[in-house]
Amino acid sequence: MRNIQPQSFDFKSINGISTEQLDEHYKLYKGYVNKLNEIWNIPYIPDNYTDNNATYSKMRSLKLGETYALDGVKLHQLYFRNMTGGNNTPSGPVFNSILSQFSSYDNFISYITNVGLSMRGWAVLSIDSIDNNFHIIGSDLHDTGAVWLSYPILVMDLYEHAYFMDFGTDKGKYISTFIKNINWNILNNRFRNYIRSMQNADMKRINHYPFEFRNLSFI
Ligand SMILES: [Fe+2]
Repeated sequence: MRNIQPQSFDFKSINGISTEQLDEHYKLYKGYVNKLNEIWNIPYIPDNYTDNNATYSKMRSLKLGETYALDGVKLHQLYFRNMTGGNNTPSGPVFNSILSQFSSYDNFISYITNVGLSMRGWAVLSIDSIDNNFHIIGSDLHDTGAVWLSYPILVMDLYEHAYFMDFGTDKGKYISTFIKNINWNILNNRFRNYIRSMQNADMKRINHYPFEFRNLSFI
């Protein structure tokens, strides 16, 4: 199987978070990439998949590790991408939709900040395909609380490894620093990709839409 390669990110564009903190975080991300490649290169032979007890077994460990690594890779790519590259002025269709759904930008910031403070893993602003509205999803682990077919627009890492070197226990200060680094061009590009995919899929007629996402590159 083709190996996934770690992506690179413009950490120099981030203000208020140290290079040391970001480099350590990036090492964790690369670790998830490596583990995912290791898991996806395990041959499909009975010795590797017939130990299948639902309390403890080789297959159970494999499947739990697979979702943790896979979601870890995707979430970190989305996170690093949406906090690098500048373009920090709230603008565009995402900003307008936030204003319309959350009443004001301050309400949105207050809400996502409080979601972030209450979670140990992630806060994700996503558009859910069930109603095409924004929802802010909270999760404690990469693969706990994840929602299928909910399209991520903004991803915020809340694991202590994301901020503890620079901010100690001051999670709120990390969140406000992260918010100042949001790249709104990335958010708007993801939003446009979602709209385009919905238009292409013609959601009124097609009820097996996962396949319609295949050619999208938004992570
Ligand atoms: Fe992380």
